[in-house]
Amino acid sequence: MISFHQPAKSDALCLLDAANLPTADLTEAHLNYFWALTDQQRPVGIVGLQPFAPYGLLRSLVVSPCRRNQGVGTRLVQHAEAMAHRMEIAELYLLTSTAQEFFENFGYRAVKRNRAPEPIRHTQEFCSLCPTSSQLMRKYLRTK
Ligand SMILES: CC(C)(COP(=O)(O)OP(=O)(O)OC[C@H]1O[C@@H](n2cnc3c(N)ncnc32)[C@H](O)[C@@H]1OP(=O)(O)O)[C@@H](O)C(=O)NCCC(=O)NCCS
Repeated sequence: MISFHQPAKSDALCLLDAANLPTADLTEAHLNYFWALTDQQRPVGIVGLQPFAPYGLLRSLVVSPCRRNQGVGTRLVQHAEAMAHRMEIAELYLLTSTAQEFFENFGYRAVKRNRAPEPIRHTQEFCSLCPTSSQLMRKYLRTK
């Protein structure tokens, strides 16, 4: 059965490292807002959120290579957005150098880095971990 759970740090590191996504800033506290989609208790993908309502940073989206193109990434993004909405996040940001078109399909649009709100600009992903060439994207979520 497929379900969402908070991932173990070791599982998150394993999936992220394999996809060359940043892990240097990852703490146990971050994991309170990370979700793994598990199949028969094995994580097949994860996504994370750094909430600074009304802003949020979607991060660390990765799907196990053997489970790609089966809708797992889509379900993870939709779940993170639903959780963000519940946390009264109205603007969701992300940085990507690998999946801009994937996120465009969900309504994210490229924005200049200097348009990032202060809390997003102060995240380690933004300041140092993601290359300056990575694209900042934003999506306005429907508010209540
Ligand atoms: C990007 C990623 C999360 C997508 O997950 P997934 O489970 O394969 O995606 P889904 O099955 O839900 O969606 C598949 C669709 O997205 C497209 N897609 C998948 N990865 C893509 C990418 N990197 N760029 C553009 N489109 C992509 C597929 O072509 C497919 O399109 P189609 O439905 O028109 O055929 C996955 O490829 C991955 O883990 N990549 C490595 C890590 C990464 O780049 N993460 C994003 C960091 S910001």
